[in-house]
This record gives sequence, C-alpha cells and structure tokens, in this order.
Amino acid sequence: MRGQFITLEGPDGSGKSTILKLVGNYLRDKGIDFITTREPGGTEIGEKIRQIILDNNNINMGGETEALLYAAARAQHVHEKIIPALEEGKVVICDRFILSSLAYQGVGRNLGIERVKDINDFAIRGIYPDLILFFHVNPEVTLKRKIGKKSADRLEREGSDFHNKAYQGYMKLLKMYPKNIKIIDASKPIEEVFKQSIEEIENLLGKGE
Ligand code: TMP
Repeated sequence: MRGQFITLEGPDGSGKSTILKLVGNYLRDKGIDFITTREPGGTEIGEKIRQIILDNNNINMGGETEALLYAAARAQHVHEKIIPALEEGKVVICDRFILSSLAYQGVGRNLGIERVKDINDFAIRGIYPDLILFFHVNPEVTLKRKIGKKSADRLEREGSDFHNKAYQGYMKLLKMYPKNIKIIDASKPIEEVFKQSIEEIENLLGKGE
C-alpha cells in the first residue's frame, strides 16, 4: 500500500522545522514507520542544489533559473527518496514542497503560478501531498528576526517586499487549492501549534486504517 505524504508550508520563520522535529518524535513513539525530509534538499544532489540557490554570492540568479533549480532539486527528491518511501508504505513528512515554489517563485518572483506549476508537474510525476499543513503567521513579525541575522541566506535577504508577495501568494493558493490544505495558527504557543498539527495528521492517518 502507498504511504501517506504530508508537507509543511508557510512563510520563513513560521516554526515549521521545530514542529517537524516534534512530529517526528511523536510518530516514533507511536511506532509509525516514517521519514522526515526537507526542500530544497533531502538528497545529496538536492542539498548541493540548495547551496547554489541560497548562496549569497549568487546575486545575479534569474527568477527562471531559481524556479528551475528548486524544481530540479524536487525532481531528484521525488525520484530518489519520496517515491521509494511511499512505495514501502512509509509516512513521508517534508518541510516545504511544490506550494513553496508556487508562492515564492510564482508570485514572489512574478513568474506566474501556472508557469511554475507546469515545470513542477514535470518534476513531481503526479506525487501530490495527501495533506498540507500551512503554518500561518504574519511574515512581518517573523522576518525581522531572520533578515537581520548575519547568517541570513540569499532568500532571507530578499527583504520584506518579496516575502510579503510570497505570503500573498500563499493566501491565494489557499483559496485555489483548499482541498488538502489545513491551516494551523502558528502565532500560538508551540504546544498549541503542535497539538493542532497532530490532530490533522491523526485525522489523515486514521482514514487509511
Ligand atoms: P527553508 O528556510 O524553509 O529551508 O527554505 C529555504 C528558502 O527557500 C526559503 O526562503 C523558502 C525558499 N523556497 C522557495 O523559494 N521555493 C521553493 O520551492 C522552496 C522549497 C523553498
């Protein structure tokens, strides 16, 4: 039986990565067979592409190049890691997936949601998430922390206009694809965010039993 594919989405600094770790601990305690992974990255090739994308020296990178690199990393991820794990019946939990490209490149970079979706459809070979948890926070709040950091990467340094556009992109996508997307109020304390996330995951996994 095919496993379940869950992705976490949201603006930078929405706390997804922390929740991913907590969800991993929870599933381990319950004896559920799962993997956690992230984008861009998740494979050796994907992590190399991640370095190119986020490298602060690559200031000349065009929007199309960026979108294709994210899609290329994703294609490798789907091919090498996500499909094999799903075929083994595992739950796959991934920090960011196609929705990030639609929001950040499609809207943030003005490339158009449809055009970015086209290249990603080629990359993902029909593997859409069964559940998308969207961590909703106002990017104005979270970005101040990130942009100011010395270690901020190329995307974090893009500034608030770009990140606000990506956020607006997400808002649009929530309306376009409401089916598998569950909105989590990530401005709440972490225990509450975790509780909400687990409820949605349990709902999905319960359906497969
Ligand atoms: P991360 O900080 O969640 O690991 O993601 C790295 C950055 O890449 C983050 O600023 C969001 C951005 N991103 C895109 O612009 N498009 C994508 O498709 C993905 C997966 C991430």
